[in-house]
Amino acid sequence: MTSFQNQVAVITGAGSGIGRATAIAFAQAGANVVVSDINDAGGQATVDQIKQAGGEATYIRCDVGNPADNQALINQTIAVYGRVDIGVNNAGIGGTFARMADQTEDDFNQMMAINVGGVFYGMQAQIRHMLTQPEGGKIVNISSIAGIRGMPMGGPYSASKHAVIGLTKTAALEYVRQNIRVNAVCPVYTHSAMVQGLIDTAPGMEEKMRRIIPMGRFGQPEEIAQTILWLCANENAFCTGQAIQMDGGLTAG
Ligand SMILES: NC(=O)c1ccc[n+]([C@@H]2O[C@H](COP(=O)([O-])OP(=O)(O)OC[C@H]3O[C@@H](n4cnc5c(N)ncnc54)[C@H](O)[C@@H]3O)[C@@H](O)[C@H]2O)c1
Repeated sequence: MTSFQNQVAVITGAGSGIGRATAIAFAQAGANVVVSDINDAGGQATVDQIKQAGGEATYIRCDVGNPADNQALINQTIAVYGRVDIGVNNAGIGGTFARMADQTEDDFNQMMAINVGGVFYGMQAQIRHMLTQPEGGKIVNISSIAGIRGMPMGGPYSASKHAVIGLTKTAALEYVRQNIRVNAVCPVYTHSAMVQGLIDTAPGMEEKMRRIIPMGRFGQPEEIAQTILWLCANENAFCTGQAIQMDGGLTAG
């Protein structure tokens, strides 16, 4: 396993699902981890789990839709651990499951504020600090297969995840000579609270969702976490600007 000893990883939305699995995996690999979320109880539970296993973690609240919160998160991380090597912009919402004509302006604006604003403001704060470090840093943004393909009933979500890839590729090119690598991960359905919300929209939904994935199963948060660690590994120094599809073979066809 790649070691992240002496590195500091900040993970948003780490009070649940993919973010929690990623925080645990980084801590197991030796990183000092900042667990961030708006769900204080969930975030604290992630920290407790890491500490019980002998790892190091701190919870810092941040609403990723708020630019000042994102800067405060990085400032507080530096106050606690002295640096930021890794930023995982994972926090996101699934939005309303409806066709485009039935989506509301409020839902669209909230989607853009959290799923796009969260990644944009998160990266701004992380990059400003990483530029002061000769080692630079590594950023992974969480997009989705819905950021590669259309998602019927999820127009604003799909748009937000396409935007995440645009931000990722642009930041990767802008800071490529400053040692800052920026990549994205695009998961298909992965067991989490978010996907459970989708399963619960109709009877038989889970089977329908499973059937489109060639492997015949959903992803596990731990599997997505391992891809995020691999993207951040110093051994992987030539990889930037990529959107890695973690989809059980879906986009191979
Ligand atoms: N689960 C999937 O199938 C799947 C597939 C593709 C992409 N994703 C993406 O993965 C990421 C993580 O989702 P998950 O499946 O683990 O869902 P989840 O609901 O389990 O976790 C999302 C976390 O983000 C937090 N969050 C929500 N709004 C926030 C805000 N404004 N500020 C800070 N934190 C906030 C929530 O409190 C929660 O802890 C999301 O960006 C999601 O879009 C998930």
